[in-house]
Amino acid sequence: MALQRVLLLSFYIVFFIAFTTTSAASDVQLLLQNIKPSLQGNTDNLLLSSWNISVPLCQWRGLKWVFTNGTSLLCSDLSSPQWTSLSLYRNPSLHLVSLQLPSANLSGTLPRELGELSTLQSLYLGVNGLHGSIPLELGYSSSLSDIELSGNSLTGTLPTSIWNLCEKMVSFKIHGNSLSGSLPSPALPDATCKNLQFLDFGQNRFSGDFPLFITRFNGLKELDLGDNNFSGPVPETLAALKLEKLNLSHNNFSGVLPNFGESKFGVDVFEGNNPTLCGHPLGPCSGSSGMSPGAIAGIVIGLMAALVVVASLLIGYFQGKKKRHADEEEEEFEEVEDEEAGCGEGKLILFQGGEHLTLEDVLNATGQVMEKTSYGTIYKAKLADGGTIALRLLREGSCKDGGTCLTVIRQLGRVRHENLIPLRAFYQGKRGEKLLIYDYLPNRNLHELLHESRVGKPVLNWARRHKIALGIARGLAHLHGLETPITHGNVRTKNVLVDEFFVARLTEFGLDKIMIPAVADEIVSVAKAEGYKAPELQRMKKCNSRSDVYAFGILLLEILLGKKPGKNGRNGDNVDLPALVKVAVLEETTMEVFDMELLKGIRNPMEEGLVQALRLAMGCCAPVATVRPSMDEVVRQLEENRPRNRSALYSPAETRSGSGTPF
Ligand SMILES: *[C@@H]1O[C@H](CO)[C@@H](O)[C@H](O)[C@H]1NC(C)=O
Ligand SMILES: *[C@@H]1O[C@H](CO)[C@@H](O)[C@H](O)[C@H]1NC(C)=O
Ligand SMILES: *[C@@H]1O[C@H](CO)[C@@H](O)[C@H](O)[C@H]1NC(C)=O
Ligand SMILES: *[C@@H]1O[C@H](CO)[C@@H](O)[C@H](O)[C@H]1NC(C)=O
Ligand SMILES: *[C@@H]1O[C@H](CO)[C@@H](O)[C@H](O)[C@H]1NC(C)=O
Ligand SMILES: *[C@@H]1O[C@H](CO)[C@@H](O)[C@H](O)[C@H]1NC(C)=O
Repeated sequence: MALQRVLLLSFYIVFFIAFTTTSAASDVQLLLQNIKPSLQGNTDNLLLSSWNISVPLCQWRGLKWVFTNGTSLLCSDLSSPQWTSLSLYRNPSLHLVSLQLPSANLSGTLPRELGELSTLQSLYLGVNGLHGSIPLELGYSSSLSDIELSGNSLTGTLPTSIWNLCEKMVSFKIHGNSLSGSLPSPALPDATCKNLQFLDFGQNRFSGDFPLFITRFNGLKELDLGDNNFSGPVPETLAALKLEKLNLSHNNFSGVLPNFGESKFGVDVFEGNNPTLCGHPLGPCSGSSGMSPGAIAGIVIGLMAALVVVASLLIGYFQGKKKRHADEEEEEFEEVEDEEAGCGEGKLILFQGGEHLTLEDVLNATGQVMEKTSYGTIYKAKLADGGTIALRLLREGSCKDGGTCLTVIRQLGRVRHENLIPLRAFYQGKRGEKLLIYDYLPNRNLHELLHESRVGKPVLNWARRHKIALGIARGLAHLHGLETPITHGNVRTKNVLVDEFFVARLTEFGLDKIMIPAVADEIVSVAKAEGYKAPELQRMKKCNSRSDVYAFGILLLEILLGKKPGKNGRNGDNVDLPALVKVAVLEETTMEVFDMELLKGIRNPMEEGLVQALRLAMGCCAPVATVRPSMDEVVRQLEENRPRNRSALYSPAETRSGSGTPF
């Protein structure tokens, strides 16, 4: 016993030391070793020559810094010791927040290492001679909100990863370059980039149709697509944005302009397009007008077997009432809220991003079963207009108290976060059947990624696993931090979808609240069998944020160890992961518990944040709920202990196929 305690103690001491001393001073290193040489190209640059360790950090040009504790480094006071401090650049708690070198005669290229500046908020490199392409890694600089690269000589296409910044982005300007190709759409089809106000793609060589996804950016104030090579119609929905400035001139747009309202925009906004472009403020359209482009005739596609189930549930309602228009659906929503306040009558409730759905759409969709669980079935369903949705049909008998049920559903319908799959609509049938309608994402779940070996699957190195874990943690922290906090209630790798950029998205959150206890208990028993159940949990209704943290801890161990969690697995397939780690620590074989694939390219597990992650996971799985960290704390620790070598994140094409390694 005594020996064990000594060993355990040393285990914690090692972790503690590793945890407190590992903090990369890497922003400075990145600036000197990668960013400076890349930006200046082949010629020495006057301003960049100030980035030199023999110059005090405060005098490095164009940079703003912040300490880890959130305090800004103030360099304005020339009498302060910081202004002349020659050792400041070694301070590991300094991070770059702003890089501003406009009109600085830069003649090089944008370095991919910009993506590693995780606290960088603004990047202003306008009016320089930068050439080459916009590196895909820029989209991984997770704090970037203002990007100004106008007036350079950038070429190539815009990387899709730029929309990784969607949530935070306020301003994105790349006016006056030589960028080409069509504009990539965000990975999430209904991304609204809610903070985005300024978008300037003007004077480039972009082509293709009007980028429709922009019409969903509902905070947009200024949009410039002028002087490009866009063609086709201008979508009707553009007029719904509250744009203050718009420039569509000098493209090849055609067809009927949307109705922006009298005298909102002048002729100059639309001049220089295809002569067929018409409608106010341009000339009137000749012939029969009013044909809104893209209107699709409703065609009933034969129901496939799987969806007949859904259809038969809905058909009674559908035959009774036919409601089509969005405003009527709005009314329905009110009706449900005010009068019935419950789940008695069959109703379709629409949430943000699901406004286009009608009951007919859902009814006429063709579907296939994706997954069956004890409490419901998930379908992938194709809509007549070509869109795809995911339908989750919950078994009858959930939601005994109608009022609270709908309150919870409405709360779930408001949740929007990049790491959570949004609920777009909800249907409650007369007999208590429930249909939850989500975005369909064609991604693999984390369980498959971790445990199923298949050719073509991406290598899951530490950088990628860390990104996945951080995404999940952020999603959970968001749920727990809401004004009315939501407990996920069913955290497990099967409920995490991972896209090709290793962005993780959680599904199934908050469902325990709408189940009757018997159904909820079934979820708990599955969670128990799968090893995610917190020891203090007896019934699902006692689920709380701390039990989510426990399940996250197990999930993080699963990510680190590459083994399926569970107790008393029959074929040795499932393992009590916390127990395994404890034994490894006692036997001083901690390094051996990590998944081999994860250790690839790792030289020092302490520096890479691996050991800290293991410690964090064990903390989350603490048997006593009160000592577990909050999800906010988990996010903070994961952010502080990032893997150093994140380059592998940036090559999504790297797969296991050619490696020939026995993982
Ligand atoms: C840094 O500045 C010193 C002194 O001005 C100079 O000798 C040295 O070459 C500079 N180093 C770099 C990497 O520019
Ligand atoms: C933040 O950290 C810096 C450097 O470590 C220190 O000088 C400063 O006083 C700290 N500020 C606060 C508010 O703790
Ligand atoms: C800009 O850089 C070029 C070399 O690329 C140099 O010849 C020129 O003098 C620089 N101009 C200024 C204003 O520094
Ligand atoms: C629109 O953009 C073009 C090309 O960038 C510019 O010449 C024109 O002045 C702009 N028009 C408006 C109304 O902003
Ligand atoms: C513009 O796009 C058309 C096809 O839509 C293409 O034929 C033409 O070459 C493009 N023009 C420029 C200047 O890129
Ligand atoms: C403009 O678009 C039309 C089709 O709408 C196409 O026939 C024409 O070639 C395009 N013109 C240019 C200059 O790209």
